[in-house]
Amino acid sequence: MDISPLQKNRHTYSPKLPPILRTDIRAIAARPGAPTEAAADQAEIRKLFPATYGMPMVEYTAGENQSVSAKRSVALILSGGQAPGGHNVIAGLFDALKRANPASQLIGFLGGPSGILDDSSIEITSDIVDRFRNTGGFDMIGSGRTKLETPEQFERARAVFEARGITALVVVGGDDSNTNAAILAEHFKSAKANISVVGVPKTIDGDLKNEYIETSFGFDTATKTYAELIGNIERDANSAKKYWHFIKLMGRSASHIALECALQTQPNIAIISEEVERYSRTLGDVVDDIAQVVAKRAHKGESFGVVLVPEGLIEFIPEIKQLIEELNTLLATRAEEFALQTSPQDRSGWVASSLSKENAALFSSLPSRIRDQLLADRDPHGNVQVSRIDTEILLSGMVGARLAEMAKSGSYNGKFSALHHFFGYEGRCAFPSNFDADYCYSLGYNAFLLVAAGRTGYMSVVKNLSQPVDRWVPAGVPITMLFNLERRHGEMKPVIRKALVELDGAPFRAFAKERDRWAAATSYLCPGAIQYWGPAEVCDQPTLTLKLERKS
Ligand code: FBP
Repeated sequence: MDISPLQKNRHTYSPKLPPILRTDIRAIAARPGAPTEAAADQAEIRKLFPATYGMPMVEYTAGENQSVSAKRSVALILSGGQAPGGHNVIAGLFDALKRANPASQLIGFLGGPSGILDDSSIEITSDIVDRFRNTGGFDMIGSGRTKLETPEQFERARAVFEARGITALVVVGGDDSNTNAAILAEHFKSAKANISVVGVPKTIDGDLKNEYIETSFGFDTATKTYAELIGNIERDANSAKKYWHFIKLMGRSASHIALECALQTQPNIAIISEEVERYSRTLGDVVDDIAQVVAKRAHKGESFGVVLVPEGLIEFIPEIKQLIEELNTLLATRAEEFALQTSPQDRSGWVASSLSKENAALFSSLPSRIRDQLLADRDPHGNVQVSRIDTEILLSGMVGARLAEMAKSGSYNGKFSALHHFFGYEGRCAFPSNFDADYCYSLGYNAFLLVAAGRTGYMSVVKNLSQPVDRWVPAGVPITMLFNLERRHGEMKPVIRKALVELDGAPFRAFAKERDRWAAATSYLCPGAIQYWGPAEVCDQPTLTLKLERKS
């Protein structure tokens, strides 16, 4: 495999571990705390998880660990979207496993959860790990979005694992994958299968976090990568002074990425979906707000600017949310009739005539490109794939039309020329920042210690992340402790609550305090590229979101 000079040099980076994990692996003892309760709906969740409910949090202390050296075969899957640092989770897990017993084996199932069902795997050797240390991507074993959720799939997994002597599975994934990991752990434990399941919190979207999980891995690198690009665009905008840049940013549901990037780059406008939803803003309101800022800046002779648009916005605008919900039901319940419509026009026409009057009118008012995108294939959860909807183009088109109306009434006389960008895939496989390289390696290392301590249904976490690594504390959190019940496809299900942007949280308040100034004045910040070598204040800083949330 060809490698770049940066990749070659990054291979030699030694990720920093929290102090307790630096000692001899045989001298790290797991220390269980008090029994735990679910975040909400405790009685129902206790009933659903009789074998794994109420387990204690786990931390570590110096002490003898006799079980750690047993010879083991541990399996791993990467689940869902790529996130920088995944290879370091594998490296941390591998190094801990081999340190404990060089004869132990790490098996990587290929292409995500479906790799288990298809029994498709490789043994991860030191040659393989060394080629991927501190690099981005999930290409060592691939990822996928198949869900492991049915008893039949669980039994198939059990058969595959038992045939290969695998006694533990590490699931690297987001809220859904970790929810399913806990259900799988419960299934194995109640069926008396000797297979433990441990999760690792991953997603660039940053929406898998709570009191116990300070951040998911990948958010740090992805936001720094996008912020670099946004800063460069801001400089270009301020140099040429002729374009409004509409930049859509990944984040399927929550707007954490847009908010963090706004804090890092100080654009003229950043839309936060959660705020749009909270105040029931219509699409017209959002367009109006942008048009007002464009007009004000034009009045000062500044016919340029930068707008950040979270990719999930479309689903947070109440009227469009209602439309999407009706569309999802329509396409699921009348799939055969829909499949008979062959041209985009036929599809749009059939849908418009099948929707309620209100939703049909909204659907028909959207540009044909957006209508087609709203009708495209759903993801495995039955959701619209928001990364494929050109919300930034929809908004700029509507802003242009609004400005044209304003020009007619004499309230605007500037030039409006829009350019569009979508930053998503660009950040998901970037070389991990030092933060993500260290964090992921620690998560993987800790996942092994949880497995070795016989823990199942736990998530590997690291606390104190806004502090230097010397103060990081690894721990194990029972996943049932993160559960509440939510309605999914008409049924109440135990799930880890998705963390949306909190409007009374410190990151949003810091943004809200400054945004009017950023809208009017040109106060762009260019954070530049991620740095791997150099002073700690440049290379080893966590995100502003993490710092503000943890007040460091
Ligand atoms: P995960 O939650 O699985 O980590 O993925 C998040 C994400 O990157 C979203 O931001 C984006 O909407 C989606 O994946 C894109 O999915 P796909 O890779 O299937 O196109």
